[in-house]
Amino acid sequence: MRVGILTGGGDCSSLNAAISGVAKTLIETANAEVVGIEDGFLGLIERRVQPLQKSDCLGLIQSGGTILGTCNRSSPLNYKGKDVSSSVMEFYRELGLDCVVALGGDGTMSLCHELSQRGMNFVGIPKTIDNDLMHTDRSFGFDTAVGIVAESMDRLHTTARSHGRVMIVETMGRYAGWIALYGGMAGDADMILMPEFPYELDEVIRVLQERAKTHHYSMLVVAEGAAPKEGTQVISRRVADSPDPIRLGGIGHFLQQQIEPHIPMEVRTTVLGHVQRGGQPSAFDRLFATNLGCYAARLVLQKEFGRMVSVHNNSLTSVALADVANRTRTVTHDDMTLLSAIYSGVSFGVRDIQNLLSQPEAAHPRLR
Ligand code: F6P
Repeated sequence: MRVGILTGGGDCSSLNAAISGVAKTLIETANAEVVGIEDGFLGLIERRVQPLQKSDCLGLIQSGGTILGTCNRSSPLNYKGKDVSSSVMEFYRELGLDCVVALGGDGTMSLCHELSQRGMNFVGIPKTIDNDLMHTDRSFGFDTAVGIVAESMDRLHTTARSHGRVMIVETMGRYAGWIALYGGMAGDADMILMPEFPYELDEVIRVLQERAKTHHYSMLVVAEGAAPKEGTQVISRRVADSPDPIRLGGIGHFLQQQIEPHIPMEVRTTVLGHVQRGGQPSAFDRLFATNLGCYAARLVLQKEFGRMVSVHNNSLTSVALADVANRTRTVTHDDMTLLSAIYSGVSFGVRDIQNLLSQPEAAHPRLR
């Protein structure tokens, strides 16, 4: 058996642990040949691969990034304006691959689904700091990102307290508020603004004014996808040849301008950015990514193609790629951390959060 592995989309911590889990299991269990595809789908387009041996997996579990490289802008369905999927198929056949294990987020899973329909075999592994893939309770990379947000907030608390300031911390997460919510709660935020609950500016200002009467400083976390009730998300750039061409970012500074004239404190903004994706993985992510990798390899050996590994109620299972493709999992209204935040008095910048919770779950639609 010959199996390819690729890492697609934005990188995150523990990609290497997952690669190692897949490769070692395939080699140990079935003496399979494993081929690393370089830079995600770009490697399939440009025909760049390398053999992966067990010895290549030495020291991988603790390392950040991806040894295979990745790319979040090259789709075989639209590469420099052309559909090159048939030449990708040809390369797949020439390599004699039985399957490609793809580690990625929803862009990668959507591509895998499309290419599956054209005759390639894929097994997906949910990877993204955004934690926004459908039909899995978790994706790897999220735990490490949340840890980085929490640690950054620990540092920002002390400087905010020293100066008596409002600190705005902007997190990543695209159209979902998972990182802002979990990182914010772990970092003891007073206010968390996320795409799921478009914020009311007058309420944000009111809460900060009230807090200023009794508290020396305030910590506000804002997800890059958050937006005012009467406005839209802030776009930082457009990447023409990416399956998801919009890059969000900049809401933190925008918000600072909106609130600073109205509150009796100085405001500073920190954009955490790609720091959330880099560096050594947490112990949880190392184990989780390894487990997902081993499970994916077992699916390959059982020839269960066209599926993504998923975790439900702490057990590993799998779902059809078709059910994951082109969908986003936003924060659910019954999420334990969301409910803890609400009950413990964290503000979401909306006057009537209970009313929002009683309505169907909705986020700002994706920008195109
Ligand atoms: O999907 C992961 C992610 O880090 C998002 O949270 C963020 O919006 C995006 O990727 C940033 O992409 P890029 O690396 O192209 O700036």
